[in-house]
Amino acid sequence: MHAFSSVPCLPEAASTPLGAEVYRGLTAFPKKLSPWLFYDQRGSELFEAITELPEYYLTRTERGIFEQFGDEILATADAKKLSMIELGAGTATKTRLLLDAAVRRQASVEYYPIDISTTALEEARRRIGEEQPHVSCMPIVSDYTKDMSDVHSISGRRLVLYIGSSIGNFEPAEAAKLLRRLRGQLGAGDLLLLGVDHVKDRFTLLKAYNDAAGVTAEFNRNMLVRIKRELGAKFRPGLFRHRACWNEREDRIEMHLESVVAQEIAIPALELQVSFQRGESIHTENSYKFTPDSVAEMLGRSGFVVRKSWTDAKKWFGVYLAEAGESRV
Ligand code: AVI
Repeated sequence: MHAFSSVPCLPEAASTPLGAEVYRGLTAFPKKLSPWLFYDQRGSELFEAITELPEYYLTRTERGIFEQFGDEILATADAKKLSMIELGAGTATKTRLLLDAAVRRQASVEYYPIDISTTALEEARRRIGEEQPHVSCMPIVSDYTKDMSDVHSISGRRLVLYIGSSIGNFEPAEAAKLLRRLRGQLGAGDLLLLGVDHVKDRFTLLKAYNDAAGVTAEFNRNMLVRIKRELGAKFRPGLFRHRACWNEREDRIEMHLESVVAQEIAIPALELQVSFQRGESIHTENSYKFTPDSVAEMLGRSGFVVRKSWTDAKKWFGVYLAEAGESRV
């Protein structure tokens, strides 16, 4: 028998990061899209707006911890000639408090914000240059989720900041892998400051992801607006409803976009037709919440040992200072 194996030939757009993600996610069952798709320019603006919402306690609670304990954090880190590195720094607004605390201990500090967004880093450098003369800001444009070698090339004793609960948007295995990779770039005794959101009553958690002004709904739906614009897809994002729920078994908030009608959407650039049943959803984000024990366990599995942690009066958010252990894992 003569058999021709036919290799399915995907359109060119399916080989871009966005096209590949949309193709994979919308042909999967259940449908899902990865949270990095949120962050085009509009999505980043919406996220900034979320951080100021009354219901979204995370950012202001972490900032409060830095205000109250910044000096103690840097003292516990024994800041003398410490270089500070920040993963996913963005415009580095919250970091200001920690940089000020570092300058109070060691007169000057080298700060290396790492981010994929050049514009955010430029803004950070401009502001720090104007307002914090004792901080030398050396931005690094890079996707730390793919490549952390820059961390290794920074000399001296290092304090890596990974704040803002960003670790919570990774699946547990991915989070441990990322931290293990970070550990691999560090020497024994280098430090990590990790900011995580704590498990708390479901009402508070649900409100933070279902704000009354609908900003989180717009942030979630913006993913569809982006797909429509960048891949020329034909559908109405308004026919998808934002839904956030608390998954108690997994300790995570889930965000979904639920189709309010049965519909077919066409994505010509991917030569793809996707059908939705009424009520069928696309899972767009997990936001994991932690307990002090689960943080210590995650850090321990990745080669770090918690030295000390700080929290707010309600214990809603936690900031953990961990030391890279003796052996790499
Ligand atoms: C970026 N990340 C920590 C946010 C979170 O809370 O998981 C993203 C977000 N999603 C909805 N609101 C905010």
